[in-house]
Parts: sequence; C-alpha cells; structure tokens
Amino acid sequence: MANKVLEVNDLSKIYKGAEYEVTALNKVSFELYTGELLAIMGTSGSGKSTLLNILGALDEPSSGKVFLNGKETKDFFKEPKATLYRRDNIGFIFQSFNLLKDLTVAENVGLPLILKGMEKKEVEQKVDEMLSLVGLAKWKLHRPIQLSGGQQQRVAISRALITSPPIVLADELTGNLDFNTTKDILNVLVDMKNRLNKSIIVVTHDPNVAMYSDRVLFFHDGKIVDEYKCQGNNNLQNILKKFQRIMEIGQ
Ligand SMILES: Nc1ncnc2c1ncn2[C@@H]1O[C@H](COP(=O)(O)OP(=O)(O)OP(=O)(O)O)[C@@H](O)[C@H]1O
Ligand SMILES: [Mg+2]
Repeated sequence: MANKVLEVNDLSKIYKGAEYEVTALNKVSFELYTGELLAIMGTSGSGKSTLLNILGALDEPSSGKVFLNGKETKDFFKEPKATLYRRDNIGFIFQSFNLLKDLTVAENVGLPLILKGMEKKEVEQKVDEMLSLVGLAKWKLHRPIQLSGGQQQRVAISRALITSPPIVLADELTGNLDFNTTKDILNVLVDMKNRLNKSIIVVTHDPNVAMYSDRVLFFHDGKIVDEYKCQGNNNLQNILKKFQRIMEIGQ
C-alpha cells in the first residue's frame, strides 16, 4: 500500500459577509498518496480553488482537519507559521506562471532554496540539475519574458519542485497554453513526478489534463460527487462522460 502523504477529513469552508454566507467546501474528505497525480475537476464555483488555498495554507478552513504525513496542520493556517509551512511543504504552480521578471530563469528556480538559507554554490548545482531535467539548461541566463509560455511554465514547475516539497499544488496550470504546449507540460510534469516520486494535485477544467492523472475527483457545490481511477491511456472518454454528467447537475 502506498504511503499516505495527505489526509483531508470533513473539510468545510464557509465565507460569511454582512449580506451573504457561502458554503464553498462542504465536508470534503479524501487522501493523496506518495507519487500520485490527483486531478480535481468540477463546476465553476464548486470549491476547487478554495480547497487548494486551504491545503496551501493561504486560507483557513471553517472546520475539518488536514494531516500532512500524519501530522495535523491546524497550527499552520495563521501567519507567521503559514509562510514557513508553505516554504517547507508546498510547491505551487499557477496558471499565470508567477515568475519574477527581473530575475533570470536560474535565479527564479533557485529562489526557494536561497530563502531556505542554502549556500549559493549548492543552489547553483541543484538548479542546473533541475533545469537539465526539464530541458531548459540552455535558457538558464534568460529572463522569463524571453521564453515561450510553455517554457515559462517549465521554469515554474522547476521552482515548485526544487525544494522537494511533500506536495505540489497546481491550479489550472495549462490554462494559458495551447493544446500542444499543454501536452508538452503535462509530459514534463508526469516525468518529474515519476523521477522524483512527487505527490501532485492539479485543478483543471480540461479532461485532456485529467487524463494524465492517476485519479480524478469531481466536485460540485462544495462536495466530492464522483471519483474516477485512471488506468492506461484510453480514459479520455470516461472522464468526459463523468465531467459532462457533473456539468449537467450544475445547470
Ligand atoms: N474570498 C471569498 N469570499 C466570499 N466567497 C468566496 C471567496 N472565495 C470564494 N468564494 C465563493 O466560494 C465558492 C467556491 O469558489 P472557488 O473559487 O473555490 O470555486 P472554483 O471551483 O475554483 O471555481 P472556478 O472553476 O470558477 O475557478 C464560490 O461560490 C465563490 O463565490
Ligand atoms: Mg478556481
């Protein structure tokens, strides 16, 4: 049995304002295993980003528990501990890449290690190894703006993985990329996951993205309403069918 890296128990999030109350997550429970790529699909407003924000300690749950490697994370939802928690445990990949434009590719990728206090020589060596793995060794002294969207996302993936975090969270990581670049990025992500045994959660609207995952959770109205375990490469139609069913409930 694979090692359970993340356990989410009855997680709920209610946003309350003077005039509104929204249940963004309603008692969500699931597990993530070491080396697993888990996709999360669902209707718009079903709580996917809220979930990633809580798992990444960017937001606090209203109730429920999260365990990372068996340890409850409740002490880490508030600053300043949240920042340290993120630095040590979470790799983020965003739709908009979020690279620092004034830094080179190598500096962007090495930044999380510098922030952890690693010595410059060691950082350079680790960055070189990582950039070779994603096929960007030649670009290390370029600035992000000199790269294509797909290359920029490979830089962002490298930056997310460089500290070897126990979990990597990606929200619509291919949302800004065309079909072929999307395939290229997913191949890089799956290759990295296999080589480095990473545990990754990707939120996506795109069944072509979910097809690369090991398992898909379908969200609607703050709840997990369906699950699909992927086997082999011919699962696009099955994922599409389930996704369409969820979209129909949503209407
Ligand atoms: N900061 C906030 N304050 C109040 N309500 C919020 C806040 N963030 C999210 N919500 C609400 O919570 C629900 C879930 O939002 P969330 O962003 O998690 O959805 P999503 O599944 O990521 O949607 P999408 O696919 O459109 O990105 C929505 O109804 C949204 O309006
Ligand atoms: Mg979202």
